[in-house]
Amino acid sequence: MSRILRSLAPALLPPSLLLAGSFAAAWSSGLQGTTACALRPHVETVACAVAAAQAGDPLIVPGFRYLGNPRCSGGGCHSAEQATMQSGQMIGDEYNLWSTRDPHREAFGSLFSDTSRAIAAKMSIESASASERCISCHATNAPPAQRDANFVVADNAVGCESCHGPGEKYLDPHAAAGWTAQERGKHGTAGLRTTHGLIDTTDLSLRASMCVSCHLQIDKDLLDAGHPPLQFEMYSYNFYYLYNNGDYETHWDDSKVPWIGAKLWAMGQAASWAAAKAQVQAWKAKKWDTAVAEAQAQMYGEGAAIAKKHFGADTPEGLLKGTWSAEACKAAAADVAALAPKAVGRIQRKNIAFGVTALCDASFKAAGAEAPEAFWTAYETAAAGGDGDEWSAAIRAMVECLR
Ligand code: HEC
Ligand code: HEC
Ligand code: HEC
Repeated sequence: MSRILRSLAPALLPPSLLLAGSFAAAWSSGLQGTTACALRPHVETVACAVAAAQAGDPLIVPGFRYLGNPRCSGGGCHSAEQATMQSGQMIGDEYNLWSTRDPHREAFGSLFSDTSRAIAAKMSIESASASERCISCHATNAPPAQRDANFVVADNAVGCESCHGPGEKYLDPHAAAGWTAQERGKHGTAGLRTTHGLIDTTDLSLRASMCVSCHLQIDKDLLDAGHPPLQFEMYSYNFYYLYNNGDYETHWDDSKVPWIGAKLWAMGQAASWAAAKAQVQAWKAKKWDTAVAEAQAQMYGEGAAIAKKHFGADTPEGLLKGTWSAEACKAAAADVAALAPKAVGRIQRKNIAFGVTALCDASFKAAGAEAPEAFWTAYETAAAGGDGDEWSAAIRAMVECLR
């Protein structure tokens, strides 16, 4: 969320708040009193979103220094060729995977492409790679006052600390076996962030809101200048390879988490809906035509309503306490598929196709069954998001495999 409001910041804020050094102060004065906003201000209410903008980026955890990717890959900690079993997890190869198979490694480099040059020229931005309008999402854009002496924006792209939080306080202790789990037990997800600067990516609700903060909302003038439209479906984006046929690979594997497909889909729709609604408000405030933003909010609103009907909530936090069953996944898959006949555009068709995939996947797993070959054949057509009868037939064929 914040990313769009951040780019509005110069218009909204007194200059003092724009100085990097005052981010932490603005955070505490703007947010500490409002407990409802405390953890994820960017997804809760418009008032929280505005407060978050004033505080800088909610994912830029205030008060801690950002160290940069080399500190994570150094010492051989996260740059092994192969993961090994440590503290009950297969870990150690994250930097290796990130630097070869993760789309985020290219986020900064993309700002030098012809497309980026064209966007920048239309917006009278001199250099995309130096502009806040771009690096707020295409890099680990830590406020200068929070940058370690050796931190270089260009080295990081969307790096480790973009998603895991600033390393200053956790770098040393988290190397001890079992430390993160122990601290999570002691402080909870919110406490990990405030005590150690660590964003708890195992919390799927927080993870969804974190991804969405870069992947959904954008200023309309960027789109008008030729920025690709943003879209997000958490299940397919979380497993990268589903989105990009094998070229990408994540450095984590949560395929064994119970109901993972359904949870990622539902929390993704809920987080996207919240961000899409905030986007409508932000565009209104800028007096931009909101038609595109409203269509997006409606699309995710329909997904969130299905999540509420079958899993018990339409917010990411609420869904942490959701109820999951094979029957509910099946029924939700059918409801998502029923949206297909009136789907407009590739983004909505893909949102439906991946939703049906996620929910069917959860349902097959619950039954201890493999999805039949026919399911994956239909998936190929569905996920391409193409037009017409063939696409609708593929969606129908996928849910029919659940019978
Ligand atoms: C700091 C902003 C930021 C965050 C946080 C972020 N992303 Fe991204 N992501 C990007 C950018 C920018 C790109 C485009 C990279 C490029 O330039 O090619 C991208 C690309 C991707 C792609 C490739 C999309 C495609 O069309 O090929 C996937 C998949 C993805 N992100 C998933 C995720 C997931 C899952 C999360 C959360 C766990 C996440 N992202 C968090 C900024 C972010
Ligand atoms: C709100 C966050 C955000 C902002 C601000 C933003 N981008 Fe992006 N950009 C993204 C994401 C996310 C993607 C990947 C979209 C996807 O594939 O799902 C992306 C994709 C792109 C791509 C396509 C990359 C590719 O691999 O084809 C280009 C080019 C690009 N952005 C340039 C820019 C430029 C130039 C600016 C500043 C003028 C900018 N972006 C500002 C989030 C952002
Ligand atoms: C786009 C967001 C994103 C980026 C960038 C990112 N991570 Fe992760 N990381 C995640 C998510 C989501 C998980 C899965 C949840 C978990 O297990 O903590 C994860 C998990 C991990 C884990 C636990 C491994 C496991 O199997 O669960 C380690 C260790 C890790 N990341 C290290 C790194 C390092 C080192 C970097 C930089 C090279 C990095 N991450 C960059 C999002 C990200």
